[in-house]
Amino acid sequence: MRTQVAIIGGGPSGLLLSQLLMKAGISTVVLERKSRDYVLSRIRAGVLEQGMADLLREAGVAERMEREGHVHDGTNLSTAHGMFRVNFKERVGKSVIVYGQTEVTQDLYEAQDALGATIVHEADNVALHDVTTDKPYVTYEKDGQTHRLDCDYIAGCDGFHGVSRPTIPADKRQEFERVYPFGWLGILSRTKPAAEELIYANHPRGFALASMRSDTLSRYYVQVPLTDKVEQWSDQAFWDELRRRLPDEVSQTMETGPSIEKSIAPLRSFVNEPMQWGRLFLVGDAAHIVPPTGAKGLNLAASDVHYLLEALKAAILDKDAGALDQYGPRALTRIWAAMRFSWWMTTLMHRFPDQTDFDQKIQEAELHQLETMESAQITMARNYVGLPY
Ligand code: FAD
Ligand code: DHB
Repeated sequence: MRTQVAIIGGGPSGLLLSQLLMKAGISTVVLERKSRDYVLSRIRAGVLEQGMADLLREAGVAERMEREGHVHDGTNLSTAHGMFRVNFKERVGKSVIVYGQTEVTQDLYEAQDALGATIVHEADNVALHDVTTDKPYVTYEKDGQTHRLDCDYIAGCDGFHGVSRPTIPADKRQEFERVYPFGWLGILSRTKPAAEELIYANHPRGFALASMRSDTLSRYYVQVPLTDKVEQWSDQAFWDELRRRLPDEVSQTMETGPSIEKSIAPLRSFVNEPMQWGRLFLVGDAAHIVPPTGAKGLNLAASDVHYLLEALKAAILDKDAGALDQYGPRALTRIWAAMRFSWWMTTLMHRFPDQTDFDQKIQEAELHQLETMESAQITMARNYVGLPY
């Protein structure tokens, strides 16, 4: 097989890039290690920035999002002293859309099918070759046979555990990392959301988040020690703990029910630099990870796609080869801004195992500023709704 852009990974970044490139008349092949059902069964992000929503519109995959997504003009923050709201719309004139990553991925698969895209599922042992030459190629196994895909460029959209990043020699790249000493235990349940907007709770027992996917589907998280196993947490134990951490008025009226998904995710900040190695370009989780506080992971994958799309279009359609070298630096400026924001929000909202009384007073002072100072709210709102591309 031959294509212009080989895309490793059929998650949201790989599919969105493929969709936008194909619409620009550039050919792609997507190689995905798992089945389509498996990819669609992963419950992940739920909040879309306006920039990502605009990119989905450009890709022609926004119709269901416009219909079923919920626009949120603000968010709630709960502290030991009560709950307050940051009004994004009022502070910075923008909002976010609550629409699940699973739905985005489903919409992208359908749009790709409609364009006649080539997406190879259950592609095993994907390997990248000659990426620093002008004739790179990819090999993979499917149904016991080895295949070769020749291409002009490779987009590594294969997530944190993919093969693309390790293809860059260790002495040619640098990793920046912070691992947090806790995880998020999350559940999905067919219940009415606890409130109209999200609630981020700073509580002496640890962080909690009340989120949602729709009017009838709720997503909740509680901070847990890294040593906790999901089997230790019955649904009842989860609801009891969540209730303790959310404001009383919310806990008393909150609907509970059986979980339909329950998992623990560790929290990490991670950036790999550079994002380009010859004709290989890293995109999304393959290049960086943010802790989930602030919902930046999926949105950052989308802004990477935007920058790489611009660069590939300039290189392929306008013969401007220099544009490709700009991809990494442009993407990294926005990535580090989101790194800072999600680190800040994680640090502000969680209980750290070694947290002193002094640290706690600083957290409380910062939350008080956020509650009472317009400039603090503007900074938070601007970052939460997403910095411009
Ligand atoms: P991925 O979604 O990881 O997609 C990569 C794809 O590549 C996968 O389909 C994978 O199967 C495939 N792949 C991997 N290796 C290979 C290979 N060798 N060959 C071929 N294909 C391969 N973000 C938020 O904003 N809010 C959240 O609540 C949130 N929760 C999360 C929970 C979990 C458990 C995880 C892991 C992430 C979460 N994120 C969340 C982050 C967000 O989901 C990611 O930022 C987003 O999925 C990034 O998209 P991606 O396409 O870059 O990577
Ligand atoms: C969700 C996850 C987040 O990390 C966040 O900040 C907001 C919402 C969610 O999964 O719904």
